[in-house]
Amino acid sequence: MSKTFYVTTPIYYASGDLHIGHTYTTTLADILNRFKKSVGMETFFLTGSDEHGQKIETKAKEAGMKPKAYVDQIVEKFKNLWGLLDIKYDKFIRTTDLEHKKSVQQIFTKLLHKDLIYKGNYEGLYCVSCEEFLIADQIDENGLCKVSQTKPKMLSEETYFLRVSKFSDFLTTLFDNDFLTPDSRKNEMFKNFIEPGLEDLSVTRISLKWGIPTTENPEHVIYVWLDALSNYITALGYAQKDETLLNKFWSADTEIVQYVGKEITRFHSIYWPIILNGLELRMPNKLISHGWILSKDTKMSKSLGNVIDPIAIINGFSSDALRFYIAKELPTERDGNFTEELFVECFNTNLANNVGNLISRTNNMITKYFSGIILEKTNIENHSLIISGKKLIDDYISDMNDYQINKAVEKVMKFGQDLNKFIEEEKPWVLDKEGQTEKLAEVLTILQKNITIISHLLAPILTKSYEEMLSQIGYNQKLLNLQELKKNDIEFDKITSRKIIFERIN
Ligand code: ME8
Ligand code: MG
Repeated sequence: MSKTFYVTTPIYYASGDLHIGHTYTTTLADILNRFKKSVGMETFFLTGSDEHGQKIETKAKEAGMKPKAYVDQIVEKFKNLWGLLDIKYDKFIRTTDLEHKKSVQQIFTKLLHKDLIYKGNYEGLYCVSCEEFLIADQIDENGLCKVSQTKPKMLSEETYFLRVSKFSDFLTTLFDNDFLTPDSRKNEMFKNFIEPGLEDLSVTRISLKWGIPTTENPEHVIYVWLDALSNYITALGYAQKDETLLNKFWSADTEIVQYVGKEITRFHSIYWPIILNGLELRMPNKLISHGWILSKDTKMSKSLGNVIDPIAIINGFSSDALRFYIAKELPTERDGNFTEELFVECFNTNLANNVGNLISRTNNMITKYFSGIILEKTNIENHSLIISGKKLIDDYISDMNDYQINKAVEKVMKFGQDLNKFIEEEKPWVLDKEGQTEKLAEVLTILQKNITIISHLLAPILTKSYEEMLSQIGYNQKLLNLQELKKNDIEFDKITSRKIIFERIN
């Protein structure tokens, strides 16, 4: 198994405020990254902003600002949102960073020298909103781009091309290797782009000013996707003085995972592997292409203006509530919904009524029957719920390693229900009345140990609550590595406080 882990999100356009869709991708990456740390891996988590191109140039003009000043204030807002959501990235890359720009110029030069880039002429329909040349299948019956619902422009100019067409066999092999998930997306890419014959990709513009000029021919500015995709390696120091991070996190034995939304899968599953191949760098292990968060059946998006503001959700509820909804209710294989009703229901069912209630009852009973600390020796090692707790850790690790965050959470919730049921069945209040102290101590210790497990497993998601969840049952130490947690030989402290952690929302 790899010891190092590298996870990336797309770098979002610094063209406007982020919405729940961006929050979704970034939160998944953050959860996975925190999980990998909890099993002892050394991790690197990259996010950032995509700041060049025509769309941003125009937006800045509309705002009466210089492009750089415009993106600067947008990027502040990105970082503020990630702070509010407790996103712990290791680096935030901006495509206007000087180091990035210099590396991208060198990437262009290297591909040019290898004859993987050549000069030619392009003519075609271009969607400014998506910053993408469109093929027939991407245009609807009204002549609009299917994704952005804007009218593409006819562009015709001298450009440099990336020789995509010669990589058909390479891509076929790559796709056979389970690099892209889910399968449905793999088939779609294959059917739409590889099978009909790949076309070379235009990677420079002479009509664009706001971008990185090529060294060879500065009139040609590097078109956003070559610039943007390169971020995943320039952030690690590619073609820079210090390549320590690159050598560590883009090495053969690192597990490299990239999250993207399905609409940019083409760039990440076709062009990005070709660029990497041209640079003689390894491929990522996994490209997770997730579905969209919809708003009344269409993609929630900046350009359509039908967005939900994550900051309003965080302020109205909490960052943990939002992170939990994303983790549990939005599996990556399909499109999902985000409405306030669904959100509140998810919170109440899972956090208030299940986990919160379990912790609150256990806290209450240990305090009431044992003055906050159970000193009785118990013999519970073979109890079925202790065995299930250990199995839960294994199952959770296995789901998380398959990038199935929602399945892992589902199992934790199921176990929470089992423990609540256990309380109903054992009736600790009767055991207390009957003076069955030994049995009572066993029941409560089983609950205490398993709540420790649940809290550990939810810690990558409930980053603001997990400490309080643990302290409510007398656990005040640092989190354990999940393998150590399986030993479950924890000594609890005296419980001294009582707090409702997840108050029901009405
Ligand atoms: O495409 N549902 O940036 P972008 C789910 N700069 N995810 C969504 C979403 C939705 N409704 N809306 C956005 C770009 N996303 C380029 C990327 S990468 C080298 C360059 C998420 O600001 C999802 O991850 O349009 C999607 O791929 C990304 O935001 C697009 O963000
Ligand atoms: Mg977009």
